[in-house]
Amino acid sequence: MSRFVYVNGRFLRRNDAYIDIEDRGFQFGDSVYEVIFVTKGCLVDEQGHIDRLAYSMGELGMELPKSPATISLLIRELIRLNGLTDGLVYMQVSRGIAPRDHLIPRNLSQTFVMNTRQVDLTAKPSINEGVDVITVRDIRWGRCDIKTTQLLANCLVKSEAIHAGADEAWMVDENNFVTEGSSSNAWIITDDQVLVTRPPTHDILNGITRQTIIDIAMQNNVVFEERAFSPEEAKNAAEAFFTSATSLATPVLSIDGVKIGGGVIGPITKILQDQYLRYAQQTSL
Ligand code: PDD
Repeated sequence: MSRFVYVNGRFLRRNDAYIDIEDRGFQFGDSVYEVIFVTKGCLVDEQGHIDRLAYSMGELGMELPKSPATISLLIRELIRLNGLTDGLVYMQVSRGIAPRDHLIPRNLSQTFVMNTRQVDLTAKPSINEGVDVITVRDIRWGRCDIKTTQLLANCLVKSEAIHAGADEAWMVDENNFVTEGSSSNAWIITDDQVLVTRPPTHDILNGITRQTIIDIAMQNNVVFEERAFSPEEAKNAAEAFFTSATSLATPVLSIDGVKIGGGVIGPITKILQDQYLRYAQQTSL
């Protein structure tokens, strides 16, 4: 648990922080969030995360709670107060506090909170050894590109995966194409070594890690195709992995019990994983 959190302009001890029971984030999921990866004191893709926060808020008729430069300063101060070297920065902005009403009120004073968690994600066994994935139906709403805190469907499928002895659930749309993971973007590498991931429409979150992995793939001359793929194509793929600020690039060893690439970490996945970490640890604070 972090010692200090940020709540609406103040750095408070964790136990002194509270949120009003009529906060719309709490009652309606009327709030957005970001999670930023921190490794060896490097804040990874900070700008991309702040830009996406602005995008999510804009799509919901809200504005950033502070200027990007001020948010950046506040993140750094929280990292300093908590002595964070490796882990995560969590930020959430809700529309604010109002008597419960489905009609969205105008001009509320937003609730802006930040928290950190110290954990060395690079040492996670799942990232280093790979994991199993199951496929499930995607039961979410039509604006998965907005990073809202309405995550119940994601929590249900993640729990289903864990209870099935897997680590992540890949959600499948009504046309039998994989959308994304419960909290990550899904990737495959075909037999002829083409890296494939779904285009960033309203159906998925355009992951910041996803965008960085595309850049890294280009720099390493990996052939890349942005298109949807089916669970069947994924099960026949040479390699598979998923990406996010918390899973980095996590190799997939099996999907619905079907081994991928003989059930070992694929060579292209390994290159992208290594290059991603090298990139991450060169970003500055
Ligand atoms: N989730 N898709 C979904 C549904 C996600 O929740 C996430 C991240 C991603 C990957 O986005 P990024 O690369 O920007 O982390 C894709 C965060 C980590 C979370 O909810 O904890």
